[in-house]
Amino acid sequence: MDNHYQLSDRKHELSGLIRADSVHRSVYTDRAIFDLEMDRIFGRTWVYVGHDSEVPKPGDYVTRNIGRRPVVLSRHTDGEVYVVYNSCGHRGAKVCAELHGNSQPFRCPYHGWTFKNNGDLEAVTMPRGYGDSINLDDPALGMRRLANVENYRGFVFACVKEETSSLKEWLGPSRGSIDDIVDRSPSGKVMLNAGIHRYVFRGNWKFQLENTVDMYHVPFSHESTLGSKGRQFSRRQGDDAGSTISHEGKAAERWERRESWGAARNGHSYTGHQPVADKKREDPAYLRYVENLRSNHTPERLAEVLAPRRHNTAFYPNMSLQALNQHVRVICPIAVDRTEILVWPVLFQGAPAEMNHDIIRGLNVTHSAASLIQTDDLENFHRCQMGSGAENSEWVWFARGVDTDQIDNNGDVINTGTGELPQRAQFKAWARLMEP
Ligand code: FES
Ligand SMILES: [Fe+2]
Repeated sequence: MDNHYQLSDRKHELSGLIRADSVHRSVYTDRAIFDLEMDRIFGRTWVYVGHDSEVPKPGDYVTRNIGRRPVVLSRHTDGEVYVVYNSCGHRGAKVCAELHGNSQPFRCPYHGWTFKNNGDLEAVTMPRGYGDSINLDDPALGMRRLANVENYRGFVFACVKEETSSLKEWLGPSRGSIDDIVDRSPSGKVMLNAGIHRYVFRGNWKFQLENTVDMYHVPFSHESTLGSKGRQFSRRQGDDAGSTISHEGKAAERWERRESWGAARNGHSYTGHQPVADKKREDPAYLRYVENLRSNHTPERLAEVLAPRRHNTAFYPNMSLQALNQHVRVICPIAVDRTEILVWPVLFQGAPAEMNHDIIRGLNVTHSAASLIQTDDLENFHRCQMGSGAENSEWVWFARGVDTDQIDNNGDVINTGTGELPQRAQFKAWARLMEP
């Protein structure tokens, strides 16, 4: 599949691009490397596709990409969720063009073949015109299902490759971040059905993935909204102190005390919680919500889910989940220097309507295209891409904390919150997956 591979810059072979504390900048700029990533990373791992609440009724579908492969996540008439290639079994045309919709069956626009919502070929138009050279019952003529699809508590992942580990195994301890947010819902189900923020930035997809678990940048990149003089919003009721901007003294210590975690092998990572999440909340809707939740959990688990220890979790290679301004973010690579971002607010089924309303409003402020936080980072990503054209240094550094990483009981790696451990974990997985 990838014999077209030729590094544009022949000075560096693939294996030499990733070091323990730095990566060669061509991983962000080289088109041939981008092509390989689409084949080898997005074609070899479990990739997050969508949430089952996006397709509640039979015939509902959403269209997504796994790397460059167009796929459809759909609800079939049997009630199950399927992930199929968005490509007609006849001559390969993309069947579903909309981002989401309801269609029973799917109908290819070119010659009108139709497909069931599980991808099976339903009918061939004017079939009498075909002779014996083609078997119209051949399942290969459908919109083929992906080799592996699994749903973990509503979150649907797919893997293109036939031979793979189970999703649970792939996610490992990062699964706990999904458990935490789902267990915060009174009904035990979260809903990603309140719309999507979508935008494209002019930079490589890995900049956004790295950034979701980068606590080092926060006081500096987001100074205009987090600094005491520049604060423009508070995240939670009772949040009146803000995050102090400082590179020394107590404030810096607080940032450094937070934990970060990186998987030994699979590239997942999370950063420690935000202290603002611990602020006491007394609004009536919240108190009603806590009452509802009480019967679901032991007192210990209730305390845990109400004050989650994790802030952002990055599920390699394309999704992040945040516990504070709660959302799911999906990273869609388009080209080596173009990336689309999709962000969904995560709502709690069964929680007071005011509370879900606040979750949506909060996310508008932090992660919409015109928000006060994410726009800072989009500027960072574009600047990283532009700066990559300079010839000052060939290497991009993730050395912070490399000498103080600790191995935890599972063999994964932990360090303080402002270390660059999560990014090192991502590139470790990158190097492993990119091997021929
Ligand atoms: S390409 Fe789909 S029916 Fe011909
Ligand atoms: Fe940021």
